[in-house]
This record gives sequence, C-alpha cells and structure tokens, in this order.
Amino acid sequence: MNDLIIKNASQVVTCSGFAGKRGKEMSDLHVIENGTVIITGGVISHVLHPDEPIPVNDSDYEIIQAEGKALLPGFVDPHTHFVFGGYREEEFSWRMRGDSYMDIMNRGGGIVNSTKATRAASEEELIESGRQRLDAMMRLGITTVEGKSGYGLDKETELKQLRVMRRLNETHPMDIVSTFMGAHATPAEWKGREDAFIDFNINEMFPLVAKEKLAECVDIFCEKDVFTVEQSRRYLKAAREHGFLLKIHADEIVPLGGAELAAELHCLSADHLLQASDEGIHAMAETGVVATLLPLTAFSLREAYARGREMIDAGCIMALATDLNPGSSFTASVPLLFAIACIYMGFTPEEAVTAFTINSAAALNRADRIGSIDVGKQGDVILLQFPSYKFLPYHVGMNIVETVIKRGEVIVNSEKLNIYGL
Ligand code: NIG
Ligand code: FE
Repeated sequence: MNDLIIKNASQVVTCSGFAGKRGKEMSDLHVIENGTVIITGGVISHVLHPDEPIPVNDSDYEIIQAEGKALLPGFVDPHTHFVFGGYREEEFSWRMRGDSYMDIMNRGGGIVNSTKATRAASEEELIESGRQRLDAMMRLGITTVEGKSGYGLDKETELKQLRVMRRLNETHPMDIVSTFMGAHATPAEWKGREDAFIDFNINEMFPLVAKEKLAECVDIFCEKDVFTVEQSRRYLKAAREHGFLLKIHADEIVPLGGAELAAELHCLSADHLLQASDEGIHAMAETGVVATLLPLTAFSLREAYARGREMIDAGCIMALATDLNPGSSFTASVPLLFAIACIYMGFTPEEAVTAFTINSAAALNRADRIGSIDVGKQGDVILLQFPSYKFLPYHVGMNIVETVIKRGEVIVNSEKLNIYGL
C-alpha cells in the first residue's frame, strides 16, 4: 500500500532541505534531470539519478511513467481562512467603486460580516463548504494547508471552526495545520473594549484551545484600528506560555511595526508585510522569522505589492501563501500566485517554488517532514503537465498540475484532460 515508483520525470525538482532557506539558497532547487522517485509505505525512500538502478522489486510497486513531466514536492499553503460561512460579494463591488478594505471594516462590514454568517452556520455546513474548498486546492497541487479560526469571535463559534478543521484533517486527504485567531477583529459586543477582548482570549480561549489540542499556532491581526502592537505583544506572549507557535498579520495596510514585533518575539512567521519597514525586514532576517507574502490579497485589494525582491536580498526566509478568505482574497489560485510573485514581486521562478514548498513548510514548522523530495519525507508530490517548473509562472493563471500524490497515494489524476487541465 502506498508504494509507488515515479519513473524518469524530466525534472525531479527536489527543493532538497530540512529547514527554511534564505538569500541565494532560495535559487537552488536541486533539480535532477530524468530522475526517479520511489515512495515506500507512504514515505520517500529513494531519489535516483538516471544512471542509478532501481533498488526495489518493481512488481511490488505501482508505476507512474513520468517522461516529459516535472515532479515537485506537493505545495504547502501556510496562510488561509478556508472555514467560513457566507460570502461578501457586495463588499467586493463596493471596493471596485472606490471604498477601501478598512472603510468597509470600520463601518461594520468585513470580518465581522463573515462572523455573522459563520455563527449562523452549522458544523455540518462548514464541513461541507470546507471540504469543497480543500478539494479545489488539492487539484491545484496543495497537499498541506494552514487554516485559521477568527470568524467566530465568541467561544462557541471559534471552537466550532477549529473542530471543523480537525474533522476535515481526519477525513480529507489533505493535511491541515490549525491556527487559533481569536483576535481577528473585535465583534460588536466587545467594541471599544479591545483590551478586555484580548484578556478574554488570553484567559478563556487559550486554555480551552490548548486543552482540546485544537490548534498548533496562534495569530492576531495587528493593524491600525484593529489591534495595537502592545495588544498584540501581550496576546502573543501569553499564547507562547500555552505552547502555541506564533503568527502575526503584520503591516498589511499601515506600517505599524508588526514585522519588528514578530522579530522581537521570534514568531514563526509574519504575514502580509505590504508596508513592512526596512528595520522590520532586517530584524526578521536576523531572527529567522519566516516572511510570508500573499500576492493574491494585494492583487484583490489593488494595493502595492510587498517588497519581495528586497526581502529576499535582505536575507529573509520567504514564503508565499494564498490567504484564501471571503473578504480580501477570495481565491486559492496557485497559478495566479506564481504569476504575480514572479511578474510583479521580483521573485525568480526558482525562488517562488522554494517559497511555496520548503519555506512554506518552514512557516508551519514542518520543514523536517514535508516541502521537499528527500529520503525520509512524507510522500507528498505533484506532477506537472509540462517538463519544467518554469511553466508555473509562465503559463499565467492556468492549472498545469496533472497528478497529486499524498503519502504515496494518487489523489488527483487529470492525465486524461487536455493540456489546459480542462
Ligand atoms: O489575511 N487581514 C486580515 N485577515 C484576512 C482577511 C479576512 C477577511 O477579510 O475576511 C487577511 O487578509
Ligand atoms: Fe489572513
């Protein structure tokens, strides 16, 4: 079971490594031309050059002939909000007419709008819509995804969102890493009492989430008119005491000092960073905070892109994520993510691949288990319909993932579709 030989891939794009990469390391994908990969018992057991003989009895294995196709690690999406009720298509059209994301949030829309629909949704409804979103992401080559709570903003609904993710993790082929984001926004009943709402999260929610082991990470929206740097510091420090890994939505709209705070607290990652300062960028590079950029969000909000090229050159460990959510980025389009990162944010195709595999695994504290094709890693790999990873940004907006393999098992096979995956 789950024993597979993937033979003669035009490129085995190994992304080899067991930790996040920075600077020039991000450019070396350790490609093996015409290589073969063997997965035994769901784990990568051999990564072979074309002149090496196959050291197992191939009649015990399922065989995939991969001539003309590039093999990569499964993509790791380290920042989404994929469990939510309702949609916000009206807000999108208001934004196209000139309202800003924060204008809409400040007049009671935005995250709090999704909170109403998420509170009203049953666990079963959230599981069903969550499952469909996971299916879509899986077809785009994502094999591990992070998901956040934060559309409940009350005890019952936050726990409901986290339990939905636990159920989906148990029943869907994709791996889900859960993050508790109780401080995503202040709901109406706490408005004006932000400090008390932070206390509620610290004193009531952290212990409950920790006790039920419902999340590995904790996140906060550190932003002007949402939560201050001081509130974020207090919340994240308390989260660490409960054993959570720390993430922060930082410097998205205003340069508030979120990147600096992430460095001060040695957060696992700081995400968004559209407005991160030079000091913040250098501090993240020095302390090894993974700088996670979300190209689809800047695109959807028509904001200036984060300074990806400068962050890479400054030595940050860079990751990319879709940020799938009902407000600022209602898309999990991996093809568009690659295109924008390369066309507008200064990533090379090699750096973009590193940022959505081994480095995004590092943003989830999993670079030792996933994110590369190395012996001992989980057998999560994808085959493209084209012979080179360079087609990922080049074939703009098109899904070129043909086969998705999770722990050695084929979970998506689009071989019979035409080269456009249609
Ligand atoms: O990552 N910026 C804050 N949180 C989400 C948006 C959530 C929403 O608008 O529903 C983000 O972009
Ligand atoms: Fe987010």
